[in-house]
Amino acid sequence: GKGNHRHFMMKEIMEQPAVIGETLNSFFNPKTRTITLPDLPFDWRDIPKMTIVACGTSFYAGMVAKYWFETLAGLGVEVDIASEFRYRSMPLAPGGLALFISQSGETADTLAALRYARENGQHIASIVNVEESSMGRESDFVFHTKAGPEIGVASTKAFTCQLVTLACLAIDAGKQRGVLDHEREALLSAALSEVPARAAEILENDTNIRDLAAEIFEARDILYIGRGPGYPVAMEGALKLKELSYIHAEGYAAGELKHGPIALIDEAVPVIVVAPTDHYFEKTASNMQEVMARNAQVIFLSDAAGMKQLGEHALGSIELPTVDPFVAPILYSIPVQILAYHVAVLKGTDVDQPRNLAKSVTVE
Ligand code: M6R
Repeated sequence: GKGNHRHFMMKEIMEQPAVIGETLNSFFNPKTRTITLPDLPFDWRDIPKMTIVACGTSFYAGMVAKYWFETLAGLGVEVDIASEFRYRSMPLAPGGLALFISQSGETADTLAALRYARENGQHIASIVNVEESSMGRESDFVFHTKAGPEIGVASTKAFTCQLVTLACLAIDAGKQRGVLDHEREALLSAALSEVPARAAEILENDTNIRDLAAEIFEARDILYIGRGPGYPVAMEGALKLKELSYIHAEGYAAGELKHGPIALIDEAVPVIVVAPTDHYFEKTASNMQEVMARNAQVIFLSDAAGMKQLGEHALGSIELPTVDPFVAPILYSIPVQILAYHVAVLKGTDVDQPRNLAKSVTVE
């Protein structure tokens, strides 16, 4: 059941500290405080290139992971939407790793992409939440996220559990490939181990998100912007909002604004800015100032240092805990889920069963 929640979605949002912890427990060794993966049927050092394929929210998890694998493991990653990938006849380097991300493990396009990758000489791994699934059966290796059953059509806890799993994989790859030294590995592992506690803090301090939802729920269009791993978080925020509230929303790389989307900005278009104080912060901050100069109503997501610099200029702000930028995309996903939830409740839409959508897309 929904426990004492009105919707499965909120119940599932609130479960995140626990299920992220469960997922992490499969890889985190509390004695050595390091990430240890089971024996894999491939060697990270031999992988020339990685291809990640998924749909929807699972695709955004893959996009975040691209930044992690490239910077932490020096491994080039191509990320693609399954419905595009499967029909594109993409040449795949022999011995590459193809990774499929899916809550259900049954998404038709992702499964077809998996079969294509197998026929083209790839190692096949998947990250799946449902324990028994077609993708799981057809993979050389399956990572099971421990999110538990996700009932809400909008993916929430499955997404953050996918991210945690991907983060562990990236650390492992970085270690095996000799890119991450011990010190950095220990720092990243420690940051990951704190995610459940930081997620719980966010959920305890979420009251102002409802007030912010009240400020934006009548908007016709809403933009989300971010850079680096904050860019897929922006796209995920926009997807959550459009599927739940039917408000038109788009996520953009903040640096792309000038190349077109900034023309949309006026006082009627709220802009949600995803901006942890990572090495992209100053650039994102200047994009935020550009949209404010065009009268956009900005909701600013950042940490204490970010708030100090820009907090009072925004219409509203959501202060997140100060964390290693590595884990920021996992944590910043939570307030965007909550914001979309409250906007949907204010609009009176069907939160758990949005119109036209199915939980599992088993036909193309
Ligand atoms: O089961 P999957 O992860 O393969 O599903 C992929 C998408 O259909 C799914 O993430 C969809 O985008 C969600 N409704 C997003 O909230």
